[in-house]
Amino acid sequence: IPIRLADYRPSDHLIDRVALDISLDAHATRVTATLSLRPNPAGRAGADLVLDGEDLTLLSFERDGVALAPDAYTVTDTALILRYPPAEPFTLTIRTQVDPSANTRLMGLYRSNGVYCTQCEADGFRRITYFLDRPDVMAVYTTRIEADREEAPVLLGNGNPIEAGDAGPGRHFAVWHDPHPKPAYLFALVGGRLDRLGGRFTTRDGREVDLGIFVEPGKAERAAYALDAVIRSMAWDETAFGRIYDLDVFNVVAVSDFNMGAMENKGLNIFNDRYVLASPETATDADYAAIEAIIAHEYFHNWSGNRVTCRDWFQLCLKEGLTVFRDQEFSSDMRSRAVHRIGEVRTLRARQFPEDTGPLAHPVRPQQYAEINNFYTATVYEKGAEIVRMLRTLLGPDVFARGMDRYFSECDGTAATVEDFLAAFAAVSGLDLTAFARWYERPGTPVVTVEGEHQAAAGTYTLRFRQDLPSALAQGLGRQPGQEADATPPLVIPVALGLVGPEGVLREAVSDRVHDGVFVLERASDTITFTGVPVAPVASLFRGFSAPVRVAAVATDADRLVLLAHDTDPFNRWQAAQDVAMARLVADARGVDRPMDNAGFVAALATFLDREALSDPAFAALVLTVPSEGDIANTLGQSIDPDAIHRARTDLRRSLGRGLFERLTRLREALADPAGSRFSPDAASAGRRALRNVALDLIAGADPQAGLALAAAQFDAATTMTDRLAALSALALIPGPTRESALSAFAERFAHEPLVLDKWFAIQATIPEADTLDRVRRLQAHPAFAMTNPNRVRSLVGSFSAGNPTQFNRADGAGYDFLAETVIALDPTNPQIAAKLLTGFGSWRMLEPGRQAKAAQSLAAIGARPGLSRDVSDIVGRMQNLG
Ligand code: ARG
Ligand code: ZN
Repeated sequence: IPIRLADYRPSDHLIDRVALDISLDAHATRVTATLSLRPNPAGRAGADLVLDGEDLTLLSFERDGVALAPDAYTVTDTALILRYPPAEPFTLTIRTQVDPSANTRLMGLYRSNGVYCTQCEADGFRRITYFLDRPDVMAVYTTRIEADREEAPVLLGNGNPIEAGDAGPGRHFAVWHDPHPKPAYLFALVGGRLDRLGGRFTTRDGREVDLGIFVEPGKAERAAYALDAVIRSMAWDETAFGRIYDLDVFNVVAVSDFNMGAMENKGLNIFNDRYVLASPETATDADYAAIEAIIAHEYFHNWSGNRVTCRDWFQLCLKEGLTVFRDQEFSSDMRSRAVHRIGEVRTLRARQFPEDTGPLAHPVRPQQYAEINNFYTATVYEKGAEIVRMLRTLLGPDVFARGMDRYFSECDGTAATVEDFLAAFAAVSGLDLTAFARWYERPGTPVVTVEGEHQAAAGTYTLRFRQDLPSALAQGLGRQPGQEADATPPLVIPVALGLVGPEGVLREAVSDRVHDGVFVLERASDTITFTGVPVAPVASLFRGFSAPVRVAAVATDADRLVLLAHDTDPFNRWQAAQDVAMARLVADARGVDRPMDNAGFVAALATFLDREALSDPAFAALVLTVPSEGDIANTLGQSIDPDAIHRARTDLRRSLGRGLFERLTRLREALADPAGSRFSPDAASAGRRALRNVALDLIAGADPQAGLALAAAQFDAATTMTDRLAALSALALIPGPTRESALSAFAERFAHEPLVLDKWFAIQATIPEADTLDRVRRLQAHPAFAMTNPNRVRSLVGSFSAGNPTQFNRADGAGYDFLAETVIALDPTNPQIAAKLLTGFGSWRMLEPGRQAKAAQSLAAIGARPGLSRDVSDIVGRMQNLG
């Protein structure tokens, strides 16, 4: 039975204060919760009090200090119900017991490698005690944690530490108090044997904050980059958004078993250790960048999520989309803005676009859900961030900043909605944002079709725009095929644009519809005219990817190469090169029978490299990267044959590699680290490594023997994980003994580094060869593999299903059977991860008919299993619907 946004009602009761006393024990943890409750004036008078609970053993239940008679309450599998609760404020004392060691779902209180930790978002708190587990019930928490001194010398909670001491033989305790009212999903505790890397930060208003990063014993050195990222995040949020930290301590704890990336619990962020631990030998440049981004993301939630939280889970994008936008801005300021923007868009297109076109498509603010944990999606996060970015583009940076300030001050301490967010911007701008708000409600990636026409005699240029939704979704919205686009109300689409001539940007070209370089497409179709255009220009459209749409515009290679050479917008320069590559890839994959002449493309890339490779290697690396197989599939859109796509991509890699061979070889030498240079994870150094390694990939694509020699040498000599892994990735594509011995050497060298072994599993799972599935099955039996560890499962099974298009989509369906088996095996112990893996089938309707039939069989096999979790049955059901 789905839960609907339209059915939202305020809680009938509120909880003002919570006192928790938690005595940690591996199998029998005792929790005493003392709750100060009162009827909610906005709720229904006299309603039963229904406290949520799951997998709890109730030990005792008192009201105002008196044990309740058994007939005064009811206990079910999901609730503790108090009949006829008082009309006045009252106190409940509830004692429960839980078994953290048996908690394989990793929701609520569990043990990871002997460390007690919690994960409560979205609804895990009810697995710790009975509670009104909904985000609009906000309370002040005091938490006393008690544990064995040996087993858990470190005891952490939300807020500030207020007391600690002995608690009888071998036991000790700590008390934490969080003065900021918060919903239960932000509760956390940690107990364990952990090392601490400490730091300090002084806020703009003079508060001295104690910072701590807690990691497995012996690994504190590897937390240095994360600590540095915390300090930079705190400083940046003060200057960029005026947001100041509000507690005396800020702690981050790294644990090895974690369902997702990290969690923003108040004052006590808990992280998947892969987003904390880094050293040059074990972490790639991409890992460093991800640590920086996720540390920032969780820290920024302190305001966009915690101080202002969500009224209900339909509003998830209110905190997630906004916080992703904020972490993207932070990373852009720390690194290269242009390079970062390209990365954001690549992620959006790789993950969100397919989701938005497939059976799991949903609005950024969903209208209903069966299982909320299945809505932590690329759409809510990444498209949610794009909506905030469009708002800034439409309002301009100054008005946007005033709107943010207003939102934070108006909504501080409340559980807010998307309407509250938009109201703040409407208030400061005086604009009506009703039409803009459609972005939150409308699933599907809009297509914007653009046609340009030059009027030479008049010196004018006309651009005609039309917005539309892909037909399947349009039909889902009640439109008939062929019906005019304006049957659904249009979206408000900011189009950042400019005109470029053969010598460069045409600055004299102006249109009264374009302000600060932005035209706002608000109607189903519209036309704008530029004057001051003596020569036929090329339109540079959606600069910086100003809206999350697909653009359909007719352009020649020559047009695109003009943009690559002359546009001022780096995003569109990159896009132009991608478009030239994509046109070739699509034609090749479709088997269009025409000789592919890449000479002009190669020459343009050569000129580009000669001019810019050494001044901006990170950008050059992106320009040289051939679109992924996933990108090609998304562009083709239907009747996908992954083998044809793989062949097309291999062909283009070979051709570009051949055409640029000498240059790439010289570039690798020019970009080599000077002898004795020290590793630095900064963006400029990472950019040089990136370009060296893209060059290696193209060289190997052109000449596998030359590639093999270079990669083997780099593999042996590497001093960084970035270089070693790039070499291994190149070798992985070249079958033979060199590859196998490199893989063994890697496994041996990093045998005691689980996060590095994840990379080793992943690389093997993505080899595009027929025996990879056998290899993956063998690796499932490897001693370092464990179905109980989400990182291992993602690295082996997730990499196979999401990162190996030819082998996962084997024509015989064996890849699908394997995924189905794994999902079924994992579902009873960790349904959240099982459901996530299952989304590997998300694009199955795009496949050619033979593979579709096989995928449908596997989905049906999963769907037919008795006793599926709500997580998995929700996904499998939606996957099979909408045809
Ligand atoms: N709020 C966390 C973050 O984005 C993620 C929590 C995900 N929770 C879940 N149940 N899937 O920072
Ligand atoms: Zn988040």
